Amino acid sequence: MKIPQHLAIIMDGNGRWAQKHHRPRVYGHVKGTRVAKKIIQECSRLGVKYLTLYAFSTENWLRPQAEVAFLMQILRRYLKRETQNLIKENIRFTIIGELDRLPSDVVASISSAMEATQHCTGLNLVFAISYGSRQELTQTVKAIAEKVALGHISIDEINEVTIQSNLSTATMPEPDLILRTSGEQRLSNFLLWQAAYSEFYFTEQLWPDFTEADLKDSFENYGSRQRRFGKIAHEHEIALN
Ligand code: FPP
Repeated sequence: MKIPQHLAIIMDGNGRWAQKHHRPRVYGHVKGTRVAKKIIQECSRLGVKYLTLYAFSTENWLRPQAEVAFLMQILRRYLKRETQNLIKENIRFTIIGELDRLPSDVVASISSAMEATQHCTGLNLVFAISYGSRQELTQTVKAIAEKVALGHISIDEINEVTIQSNLSTATMPEPDLILRTSGEQRLSNFLLWQAAYSEFYFTEQLWPDFTEADLKDSFENYGSRQRRFGKIAHEHEIALN
């Protein structure tokens, strides 16, 4: 089984799962959180280096206020209850997204979880919270424009590395595998720049039904892919010569 260095997951289908079980939508998020915990643990055990979870998108602010408040409460509780476990499992916690849109106590909990786990050297667990790729790219353009305006770099010096190093993911490798549950096959404003050469894996399973065995299936499938990054396979290279 080939283990991706960086796995990114769009955990989709909590609402539909709750509906299927005749429960309120938020119950799907509670079950989804339990699944997230299991998958984090399994990724850590299997040696994944980076796991990015799309926990809350910039568009999710448009959901009913009660659902947004519930998701914030889930985050609060997760950070409070799990930080010690993260330390124990050598998991380093970080986030990407617009921190300043979050309630101040959630920001404080995020900061303390990041600080408490910054020495950990195992899995890097990244929550994408109030994250949107277009917003991230807009910020990146502004940051580079400011450097140009201040005369720190010239326009000619701007290249792909300049952009990459101004993204919120600057210190991470690009995702090798992006997994989305619930049968939807789209990126929904997630890691648009970073996904240029990612492999995609879509499964019909709703997130609350997703298991460690499903995760392994996705890795088996990923292992069977040939990643060429726009080049041609080595044997064809030889044949051409
Ligand atoms: C998508 O399902 C899920 C979300 C918008 C929230 C994801 C959050 C969690 C699973 C909680 C994880 C939290 C932690 C702390 C790890 P949906 O509501 O869009 O489902 P639907 O498409 O069926 O309506």
